[in-house]
Amino acid sequence: MVGSRVVETSEGIQGEFNTQTYDRMMRRMRDKGWLETNLILRAGITQGLALEVGPGPGYLGLEWLKKTKETNLRALEISSDMITIAERNAKAYGLQSRVHYVKGDAQDMPFDDNMFDGVFTNGSLHEWSKPTKVLDEVYRVLRGGGKYCISDLRRDMNPLVKWFMKLVTKPKEIRPGLISSINAAYTVEEIGSILEQSNLVGYKVRSQTMGLIITGEKTA
Ligand SMILES: C[S@@+](CC[C@H](N)C(=O)[O-])C[C@H]1O[C@@H](n2cnc3c(N)ncnc32)[C@H](O)[C@@H]1O
Repeated sequence: MVGSRVVETSEGIQGEFNTQTYDRMMRRMRDKGWLETNLILRAGITQGLALEVGPGPGYLGLEWLKKTKETNLRALEISSDMITIAERNAKAYGLQSRVHYVKGDAQDMPFDDNMFDGVFTNGSLHEWSKPTKVLDEVYRVLRGGGKYCISDLRRDMNPLVKWFMKLVTKPKEIRPGLISSINAAYTVEEIGSILEQSNLVGYKVRSQTMGLIITGEKTA
């Protein structure tokens, strides 16, 4: 029996301690090769100008830039503290000319219609207070034929997997945040009904051991 969803935050990850601890966790995941950049590539987001929603410290988008040629990235992030860290990381990658971090809310994106060849986001969905609104914005800013890839944790993961994830997550100061994120995440069934209410069509939802992945294309 899966517990009810416990809303975490709608203001993003704020404050020096939280953002720096999160950065340490994601840097370690990057160093271990655990970032799922291939998910984005397999979803068909391989060229042109992409949008990342909620990049946090930015490693996923920076790895995507590294693995693709002549691509550029806009990354929309609600937390100024996270943007400071992401900009520092982009410089360390030598990729600052290909990525631009924009402060704003994914529920009301400061971008023109049909602007992006692809949109991706990881681990941010459970923080959006109006997920349908964000999905509609994803649809609006994508060009016809543009692809999207939305991944997140899922609350209906096996309790043993949840326990194992907590154990391997470092630094240990981030573990309470991990558990609150899992408790705020959607089940596969819940995300299905959110998607039905959005403008997205023809999507696929896949369930994985720890999370869920939504992929699709905007039909012209
Ligand atoms: C759990 S972190 C995931 C960061 C990164 N994508 C990753 O895979 O590690 C979620 C990020 O989404 C941002 N965020 C949350 N709600 C947002 C919103 N409405 N608009 C833009 N960014 C948002 C948070 O500030 C945070 O940096």
